Amino acid sequence: MSATPALLGKHIVLGLSGGVACYKAAELTRELTKAGATVQVVMTEAALQFITVATMQALSGRAVYTNQWDGREPNHMPHINLTREADAVLVAPASADFIAQLAQGRAGELLALLCLARPQSHDQRCPLLIAPAMNREMWAHPATQRNVAQVRADGATVLGPAAGDQACGEVGDGRMLEAEELRDELIAFFQPQLLAGRRVLVTAGPTFEAIDPVRGLTNLSSGKMGFAIARAAAEAGAQVTLVAGPVHLPTPRGVQRLDVRSAQQMFEAVLPLAPAHEVFIATAAVADWRPAAVAAHKLKKDGSGRAPAIAMTENPDILASVARLPEGQRPWCVGFAAESERVVEHARAKRLRKGIPLIVANHGPSTFGQDHNALVLVHEAGETELPAADKLTLARQLVAEIAQRAPVRR
Ligand code: C5P
Repeated sequence: MSATPALLGKHIVLGLSGGVACYKAAELTRELTKAGATVQVVMTEAALQFITVATMQALSGRAVYTNQWDGREPNHMPHINLTREADAVLVAPASADFIAQLAQGRAGELLALLCLARPQSHDQRCPLLIAPAMNREMWAHPATQRNVAQVRADGATVLGPAAGDQACGEVGDGRMLEAEELRDELIAFFQPQLLAGRRVLVTAGPTFEAIDPVRGLTNLSSGKMGFAIARAAAEAGAQVTLVAGPVHLPTPRGVQRLDVRSAQQMFEAVLPLAPAHEVFIATAAVADWRPAAVAAHKLKKDGSGRAPAIAMTENPDILASVARLPEGQRPWCVGFAAESERVVEHARAKRLRKGIPLIVANHGPSTFGQDHNALVLVHEAGETELPAADKLTLARQLVAEIAQRAPVRR
C-alpha cells in the first residue's frame, strides 16, 4: 500500500534567487513533485548564474519563467497569472538581496514582482514562504535582520536558515534547509492547525531493561507510530514533548525530544512533565517487568548446563499513573493497546482498567517495525475505525480525533 502523496493537488510556485544553494532547489523540485505537487519554477537573473533553466525545466516538467516580459502568456502578465492558481510561493534560496527587495516591495524582476502581486485577501490568499541562504555575516547583518523581520511582519513564513558549513568555507547561520526539510516544512504548513498552542506529551518506542552490563530485555517496537504522532501533532500546531525509548529515528522538526532507556527512566521523565501538558499519548511499548537486580558483571555460563534464574519485578505503569494525577494536573490521556488476538475486546477492558477516555487498538505482530498500520479507537461512545494506511496518515487522523475530543484547558 502506498502512502497518499502529502502535497497532492497543491500547485507551488518555486522561486530561485541567486545563491550556491540553487543546487538544492533541483532536489527540492523532485521532492515536491514526488510528494504530489505541481511545481512552477521562476528564476531571477542571479539564479541563472548558479543553475540552468534546462535542469529546472526537466525536473519540474514545466517551462521555467525568468522574465516579466515573457511573451508566452496571452495577456503578457506572467506576474499576475503565475500566482492566481498557486497554493503557495516558496522562494528557495532567498538571497539577502532578494529579501531586501521583498522588504521594500520592489518589483524590478519577475520573481519579486509576482511576490508583490500575489493575492493577499482571505478568499484567494497565496501565502509566501522563504528559505534564506547566505553567508553567516550577511545573515547576521542588522540590515538583513531588519529586512527579515519586515518580511515576517508582512506575513511571510521564514524557513530556517540552519547553522553549519558554508560554501565560502565559514561556519555559522545561513545555510539553506535541505530539500527534504523544506518539503516537510511545506507539508506541515498546509496541515490544519487543529492543536494550535496546545501542549502534547508523547511516549514512543520500546524500553530496554538491563540484565547485566551487556544484555537486556526489550521488544520489537520501532517507535515509528509514536514518532509519526509527535510529528502530526507538531504539524497541527502543538508544542510537543517526545519521550523516546531506544530507537534509531530522527526527531520530527519542532519536537522537543528526551531519550530514555528503561521503563523506570521513562516513568521518571514523564511524571513531572505530565501536568504541564494538556494531552498525553502513550504509544511506548513499555516493558511490564524488569530484572529485580542488574548484575554488576556479565553473567557467565558455569558449565552446569543450567540457565541462571533471573528474578523479575513489575515496572510502574506510566499511563495509569498519569491518568491518576489529580484533576487540573491530569492531561487528557490516550493509550495504545498492541494485542495479538481479540484486539478490540482487550482494548475495551484496558481502557476501563487504566481509567482513560481513549485507547487505540492495533494488532501488534503485524505492525511492529512496519510503515503501515490499522487502528480502532475505543472510547466511551463505542469504536471508530481508522482503516489501513501509512502511519503518518493514521497519525494525522488520530490527531484530528484527539483535537475534537480533548477539552481545552483554561
Ligand atoms: O498494559 P499495557 O502495556 O498493555 O498497556 C498499553 C498502554 O499502556 C500503552 O499506551 C503503553 O504506552 C502504556 N503503558 C505504560 N506503562 C507501562 C505499561 C504500559 O505507559 N508500564
